[in-house]
Amino acid sequence: MSKFARIIGTGSYLPPGIVSNDDLSKTINTSDEWITTRTGIKQRHKVDKETTCDLAEIASKNALDMAGIDAKDLDLIILATTTPDKIFPATATMLQNAIGASCPAFDIQSVCAGFIFALTTAEQYIKTGMAKNVLVVGSETMSRIVDWKDRSTAILFGDGAGAVVLSGSEETGILHSSLFSDGSYVSSLQVNNNYINETGFIEMSGNEVFKIAVSRLSSLAEETLKKANMSSDDLDWMVPHQANIRIISAVAKRIKTPMSKVIVTLENQGNTSAASIPLALDTAIRDGRIKKGDNLLMEGIGGGFSWGGVLAQL
Ligand code: COA
Repeated sequence: MSKFARIIGTGSYLPPGIVSNDDLSKTINTSDEWITTRTGIKQRHKVDKETTCDLAEIASKNALDMAGIDAKDLDLIILATTTPDKIFPATATMLQNAIGASCPAFDIQSVCAGFIFALTTAEQYIKTGMAKNVLVVGSETMSRIVDWKDRSTAILFGDGAGAVVLSGSEETGILHSSLFSDGSYVSSLQVNNNYINETGFIEMSGNEVFKIAVSRLSSLAEETLKKANMSSDDLDWMVPHQANIRIISAVAKRIKTPMSKVIVTLENQGNTSAASIPLALDTAIRDGRIKKGDNLLMEGIGGGFSWGGVLAQL
């Protein structure tokens, strides 16, 4: 049994295709100015032929490289995705094969909170001694469930993948985590099919989602810090889900954290759902902003609704 679960490597990948706000304004009634002001997003990446598993494979190999771990040494793979490639098998099992691992692998579906749910699950496996090294991935091809004619949603989402290797340690790692769900909000943010064999697209009450996201994520951040006996002064970084710059800054303001301590990647990536937090984390670790020993608060909320947060020392 390990006392802590530590992040020992991160990786990410964005497909090369880019859709800018100006590109969108050629096909739907919108503008770069509207999208930038209301969301902070300037562009998003979009797959061509690549699958969710393809994106996850590259992000995972990058994370394993940084961790110095061979895929054969993984005890578990947990992949969070809203956009699995197939109804079955789990995308995680295809990823297991692609990277040459042989451990158990399963998917988690908690939409934009998926990475937080996956990380928290991985932490439990490590702390109970069931696993030593766990690959936790968020990978999405959201472009496949976006209605590109709907200006209220097409502007928001993007494709990409991020991954971390979580490992058992006596050194400090994850300090506190919490998860929540409230299924009474299904129709506020959902894919609008009735049955699994019907096509559906993202459908959202933008205003309602906005207000709930700010209120739930603000309370979550306050409670998480309180439970860890910390104040926002002890935080080095917030690494939030990248949905909307106005949501992110409202939460940061509520917990009195300056935007200089918040990692923001949505300008170039849009909302990549379960991939957004590990993508932001990897970006800021690789560019040298986040360093070993830093205290991080990661938090996210997603579809109809699930939300959660993880406070960790890197
Ligand atoms: N371009 C131009 N105009 C647009 C538009 C677009 N892409 N989308 C909507 N509009 C229009 C609306 O039709 C409306 O026009 P009206 O006043 O004539 O009726 C006006 O802009 C305002 O729409 P509204 O929905 O009130 O805007 P908003 O300020 O709430 O911003 C979102 C819309 C979607 C950007 C915002 O609500 C949001 O980000 N919500 C959270 C979404 C989210 O993060 N989801 C994922 C959570 S994981």
